[in-house]
Amino acid sequence: MFMRHLLALVATLLLAVPAHAAAVRDPASPTILLTGANRGVGLALAKEYASQGWNVIATCRNPRDAAELQALAKSNPKVIVERLDVASSKQLADLAKRYRGVPIDVLFNNAALLGDRNDKGNKRQRFGSLDEELFAEVMRVNVLAPLKISEAFVDNVAASQQKKIIGMTSGLGSLTLMGRMSNFYFYQMSKAALNMGFRAMRNDLGKRGIIVAMLAPGMVETDMLAESGFTGKALTPAESAGGLYKLVAGLTLEDKGLPVNVDGKVIPW
Ligand SMILES: NC(=O)c1ccc[n+]([C@@H]2O[C@H](COP(=O)([O-])OP(=O)(O)OC[C@H]3O[C@@H](n4cnc5c(N)ncnc54)[C@H](OP(=O)(O)O)[C@@H]3O)[C@@H](O)[C@H]2O)c1
Repeated sequence: MFMRHLLALVATLLLAVPAHAAAVRDPASPTILLTGANRGVGLALAKEYASQGWNVIATCRNPRDAAELQALAKSNPKVIVERLDVASSKQLADLAKRYRGVPIDVLFNNAALLGDRNDKGNKRQRFGSLDEELFAEVMRVNVLAPLKISEAFVDNVAASQQKKIIGMTSGLGSLTLMGRMSNFYFYQMSKAALNMGFRAMRNDLGKRGIIVAMLAPGMVETDMLAESGFTGKALTPAESAGGLYKLVAGLTLEDKGLPVNVDGKVIPW
């Protein structure tokens, strides 16, 4: 009788944990999961959190091409590189399954796209030649994906100590700041929509003690900034990541839940 119960228990445990389950290297340290960690602000965030002793689950869509991220993982065993195209429901489901039960203190939705990098002159998101396919892609990656990734990992975040979900917003999503800009219809719309989605999610997840925040990195010298044509003063990715690290550390459930820039200033709606 006892043996039968024991066997049933073992079978249940084996079924509950997938054979290929992933684990973080140091369960005593906090853990962050980042999207778009292969370049730009995402890579700088991976380096910043790694230098602060965190476990870093650094996701990107092409791990094999992510040389700098792979080098970071090689030098720091607490950094794990995982494949995640944020627009792929299949890859997301697989990753979430492998990390089932692993607490994630900070889920940082960083990946996004400005538009079509091959579209010189950015015609596909200007009035007169607005492109349906590009609209769908930008909204999928910049708006829907952060929400679906949050859904997929919400139990991991709820099981952690810090319980924080971040959406990377932008001043370009602000009606007040960007009232006279019209070069990037889809990107601007996507960040405004992300803000509203995260605002709604904040209401739902606050009940579970989860802090949902919208943070912007400031103007940062990355491929995206170069693509935008901006040539003014900008932060280095490391400066931005350092500022974001401090902002995330200071988040509380009592915050107002408004979009905040890396310098701590609220981005007006
Ligand atoms: N730079 C700025 O001045 C600035 C200002 C305000 C807000 N932001 C925001 O800050 C975040 C980071 O921007 P950044 O300047 O670092 O941009 P970036 O240099 O263009 O990097 C974008 C990152 O997103 C990833 N990505 C795009 N589509 C993806 C997909 N389908 N699946 C997975 N990853 C995908 C890219 O991966 P691949 O290499 O595979 O393409 C790359 O890692 C974004 O949310 C952006 O909107 C940036």
